Amino acid sequence: MTSQITSVLQETRLFPPPEALVRQATISGIAQYAAMCAEAEQDYRGFWARLAREHVLWHKPFTRDLDDSQAPFYKWFEDGELNVSYNCLDRHLGTPVENKTAILFEADDGTVTQVTYRELYHRVCRFANGLKALGYRKGERAIIYMPMSVEGIVAMQACARLGIIHSVVFGGFSAKSLQERIQDAGATLVIAADAQVRGGKHIPLKPAVDEAFALGGCESVRKVVVYRRTDGPVPMVAGRDVAWDEVVQGQADDCEPEWVGAEHPLFILYTSGSTGKPKGVQHSSGGYLLQAVLSMKWTFDLKPDDVFWCTADIGWVTGHTYITYGPLACGATEVVFEGVPTFPNAGRFWEMIERHKVTIFYTAPTAIRSLIKAADLSPNHHPRNYDLSTLRIIGSVGEPINPEAWMWYHTQVGGGRCPVVDTWWQTETGGHMITPLPGVHTLKPGSCTMPLPGIAAAIVDETGTDVEKGKGGFLVVKKPWPSMIRTIWGDPDRFRKSYFPDDFQGRFYLAGDGASLDLDGYFWIMGRIDDVLNVSGHRLGTMEIESALVSNPQVAEAAVVGRQDDLTGEAVVAFVVLKQARPAGADAARIADELRAWVAKEIGPIAKPKDIRFGDNLPKTRSGKIMRRLLRAVAKGEEITQDVSTLENPAILEQLKQPL
Ligand code: PRX
Repeated sequence: MTSQITSVLQETRLFPPPEALVRQATISGIAQYAAMCAEAEQDYRGFWARLAREHVLWHKPFTRDLDDSQAPFYKWFEDGELNVSYNCLDRHLGTPVENKTAILFEADDGTVTQVTYRELYHRVCRFANGLKALGYRKGERAIIYMPMSVEGIVAMQACARLGIIHSVVFGGFSAKSLQERIQDAGATLVIAADAQVRGGKHIPLKPAVDEAFALGGCESVRKVVVYRRTDGPVPMVAGRDVAWDEVVQGQADDCEPEWVGAEHPLFILYTSGSTGKPKGVQHSSGGYLLQAVLSMKWTFDLKPDDVFWCTADIGWVTGHTYITYGPLACGATEVVFEGVPTFPNAGRFWEMIERHKVTIFYTAPTAIRSLIKAADLSPNHHPRNYDLSTLRIIGSVGEPINPEAWMWYHTQVGGGRCPVVDTWWQTETGGHMITPLPGVHTLKPGSCTMPLPGIAAAIVDETGTDVEKGKGGFLVVKKPWPSMIRTIWGDPDRFRKSYFPDDFQGRFYLAGDGASLDLDGYFWIMGRIDDVLNVSGHRLGTMEIESALVSNPQVAEAAVVGRQDDLTGEAVVAFVVLKQARPAGADAARIADELRAWVAKEIGPIAKPKDIRFGDNLPKTRSGKIMRRLLRAVAKGEEITQDVSTLENPAILEQLKQPL
């Protein structure tokens, strides 16, 4: 980590906020930012309580702010009652927002559909009434397996309206992953599409639902609601499957929201950790919504005329907070895109920004890096060929953005005039934590700058002491915040151990990232310090991929590490020992392909190893521990300078160095 830290700390390019933006920004200038941070410092509870009263509509006002009596199981605004869908839809009825476009949906083939707030409200109500008619009630869990679509958002909002806890499963996950999530959540409802359409191709989804049931253990599910995206045949299971159209048919246009306590779980979202199966991150209703709204206003400086576009998928937390909940609660017009950035050509994003006059654009470094490459190869689709003059703020999320990609984004997409908000946060944090504010911070390419007001982010050493400026350490959050993870669904013990470990006497939230502070107090994120990989902004546990590999009958043992990759940030490298002799030549290539397909089936295509190496064994210490740091060096193709004298079988390294 040290060499990385030294290199980024040499970054000297500075980009102060544009004057015009500072003047009109929600948080305007460093003095206002400092005053808000000071307010939070002086009266932490009062600060959050004031914001919660100002930015969330409560059916029953709360009288208690933070309850830390059972730390780290913190509760916020607990005796308050609200409904998140009411806050996103009903609140706009009878206001000028009612007839404003809520969603500008662009399908893969370029067809555009516009949905106003009133229409969206009715669609959510009809679907919610349909679910009620099927017997669904507050507290039940629904798995949503839907592509980017208006209906995906309607499904999530309808669940929120009824107090049904949703868990969206990304369309790229396999039947096995789906089954595990259905089981873990004890879901009684599945809402799925027949297929998704991306890059001109139809990719089936419903067969994975049927396969998940065939794998067993899904008996808790009473109904599978099927939304038809394509005209292909969809086998329906009698008594279990019901068509979306049938669910909404004849249903009333209005549906009384179910008022829930602020701590009622709004959703569970599964994400990878360093050990075991993915964990169901449980979020609250009140605190979560508060920070979704605040970050829209603070980080994106949202104004009534903005056209907001977050390119994430609703299957990830970014899609939850910055597509389904944040923008709608703020009455924004947002673009929702079904397809991929490179179809029909690499100018798709830029063309869409031009077509929809997007003013705030939020995407991931992986997309930026792939579009830099594409623009080099195909100059016609370079952003300079499009009118991007409507943009005023551009954002980045999901992984560290390397300074050169940042510079390209800033100059070629943002025309040198749009602040880049490099937002650091996680599935667990619910919303932005450390990010530049467009009217406040002077930017440094590659730094996510400073924490939002009220976020007690810090960098500490092993003893929990703050590191000096210029040094690296563990990224922690020292005080609870309203949109934080509440627990891991069904596993409170794992929650405590993962995030509030004894190392820091359970006092700090441990993010799992390494970071450093520069001399100006700017944060620089170095990436995960645990066994979690970040491939194209997707989180994958090395253990998960190892378990998938060893469940293949041919595999005796497997170890997975990450390697830096120019395009995807990190790439998965798997070292595999087969039960049979070490394969060579065409045999090795064939087995590697089989193993990739196996991982795609077990977890999903995103987890497929880029590189597979075969050995007679893995490098182990004499006590039998796999030496992962050696494997990381081998994966990178580095000269092994480390001491290998404790290694049981040094000759193995030579085998594992051989790419296929
Ligand atoms: O390592 C950090 C990285 O993504 C992790 C969180 O992944 P996930 O829960 O899937 O959420 C992604 C979307 C919020 C973090 O632990 N990460 C996220 N944003 C950044 C980042 N790393 C550096 N800079 C960022 N802006």
